[in-house]
Amino acid sequence: MPSRLTEFLAQTQLEGAAAPLPEAWTLPPAAYTLPAIFQMEAARLFHGGWICVAREEQLGAPGDYLCADVVGQPVVVVRDKAGELRAMSSICLHRAMPVVEGSGHATRFVCPYHRWTYELDGNLRSAPMMQGVEGFQVRSARLPQLALEVWEGFVFVNCDRSAEPLTPQLSGLHQLVRNYRFGDLVISGTAEFDSPWNWKVLVENFMEAYHHTGTHQNTLESIYPARDSSVPDNDDQPWAFLRMPGLVDAEPPVLPDLSDAQQRDLFAAAVFPTFLFAGTASSGVWYQLEPHAHDAMHLRVHLLLPQSVRDAMSSAELDAALELVRGVHLEDIEANDGVWRGLQAPLTVQGRLGPYEKAIWQLNRYWLRMLA
Ligand code: FES
Ligand SMILES: [Fe+2]
Repeated sequence: MPSRLTEFLAQTQLEGAAAPLPEAWTLPPAAYTLPAIFQMEAARLFHGGWICVAREEQLGAPGDYLCADVVGQPVVVVRDKAGELRAMSSICLHRAMPVVEGSGHATRFVCPYHRWTYELDGNLRSAPMMQGVEGFQVRSARLPQLALEVWEGFVFVNCDRSAEPLTPQLSGLHQLVRNYRFGDLVISGTAEFDSPWNWKVLVENFMEAYHHTGTHQNTLESIYPARDSSVPDNDDQPWAFLRMPGLVDAEPPVLPDLSDAQQRDLFAAAVFPTFLFAGTASSGVWYQLEPHAHDAMHLRVHLLLPQSVRDAMSSAELDAALELVRGVHLEDIEANDGVWRGLQAPLTVQGRLGPYEKAIWQLNRYWLRMLA
């Protein structure tokens, strides 16, 4: 695996991206298009960082499980018999078959290949016909465990169990979003997309409102004008927050604890590298982004509502609410498709960042810290 960014990117380009915002440049195009850079990101950002893989309410009862792919690492998240959430590699200790896929409810996991059986906490319980294998003890074998934290109802995992805990790093972000009480919201609809872009193209698009003037000029710009948007300092913590003050009051029912300003605001937030969520006075969305390669990603856009609101809505009303969320992303797809084509062109240059792209600059500084 390459170990140095400067094997691929010029030092002056990296310095441009790391400069103070008024002097800052974008990341160079090769940061998006080179498979070798994606390999470095996989090792340091995705397998050493906190990745959101579930909502807590998806794993309500002991035995509920859900599988995720953390950039090539298949993971199962499960509520064990004691009621604890656990995350572990779902790859069999025998000959590397995934022992479980998808989601559902189980009392134990049985590998479909040769029927080795695991407890919900990952301990191997039985391995048929393995008598006489020297030094092999069923009882001392366990699926590799990941670190896990729940923040605002979102379940984060980290392949590196010695990683710095997440929640203290998000204290500044928590101040900004606590009134929305995301822990009380539930997934109320999901739209899925496969896209042939580098994952950073989506994160950058999500984290600036400057493009409301172009991409969303007939939709978001008239309610959340780009020029009113702002991004607070993050003290070099791994998150960003984009505030988009609105011109109109939210439709009721609004979330109970919001300030007067928050009742009109839209916000978007990121926990780097890939966790994206947004909120209005009445709902949230979670962009569950799974990068698969330098040029491939899967996205699930989940609509989040208070349970009581969801229960009171008809399925037609829920469909309509999801369609609004989907419609915004369909506009963004056009922009991201264009950018992705552009980034691969031989004459494309490293660009300049403007004052309304502070969150991209924060992402770039995080990226450089983690990879440089
Ligand atoms: S690979 Fe799982 S039991 Fe053989
Ligand atoms: Fe957008």
